[in-house]
Amino acid sequence: MKYIVANWKAYFNLTQTHEWARTFSSLPLDVFIDKVTFIVCPPFPFIHVINELLYHPSVKIGAQDVSRFPEGPYTGEVTAQSLSGMVDYVIVGHSERRIHLKEDDKIIEEKCVMACSQGITPIVCVRNTADKIPDNVTFIAYEPVEAIGSGKNASLQEVLEIRKQLHISASHQFFYGGSVKADNAKDYLFPDEIQGVILGGASLEPKELFAIGKVAASHLRQS
Ligand code: PGA
Repeated sequence: MKYIVANWKAYFNLTQTHEWARTFSSLPLDVFIDKVTFIVCPPFPFIHVINELLYHPSVKIGAQDVSRFPEGPYTGEVTAQSLSGMVDYVIVGHSERRIHLKEDDKIIEEKCVMACSQGITPIVCVRNTADKIPDNVTFIAYEPVEAIGSGKNASLQEVLEIRKQLHISASHQFFYGGSVKADNAKDYLFPDEIQGVILGGASLEPKELFAIGKVAASHLRQS
């Protein structure tokens, strides 16, 4: 199985969400069954919409963040309790949150504990080997800051070297993210050491997302 995480970030309104879902669900998604899992991570307000509009065995829903607090008097927070039953995955520790929201390793660990307590799988993003991977986290994404949104994707050699330095084992699911597009996706989706990719920009375009899925599926057909 290969995973393709679609991180919409803070893009799209309701109309655009409907359009995206209409286009993506009109594509022949059955080619991905038992080969590729898409984890679609819209902004919080659209999670429910995507859940209703996009029902397919190869599509799972994720959140882009989760509160480190339990349910309670925390105005504006979206807790793991609220998300439970709505998402299977949550992205935790994306560099944009580390930078703009000042999230540190402790906060990230607390968020992972909250997610796991509700049966939601955290996908922890690390920028380099200095970022701590919380205990018991099995989905890890290497996303170097300079590769995000820049068109400067990291080389496969660099990604595999970081994987080694992070002590990633066969019990982990290891992803790469940063300027992955249909034309470079095979670099990351073909090696057995990498189980998936995280897409930002490319995930906003349903046909590009589908094309990247096809790259993953084509590899699995050959192997
Ligand atoms: P990008 O973003 O694909 O636009 O580079 C990746 C990410 O931030 O997850």
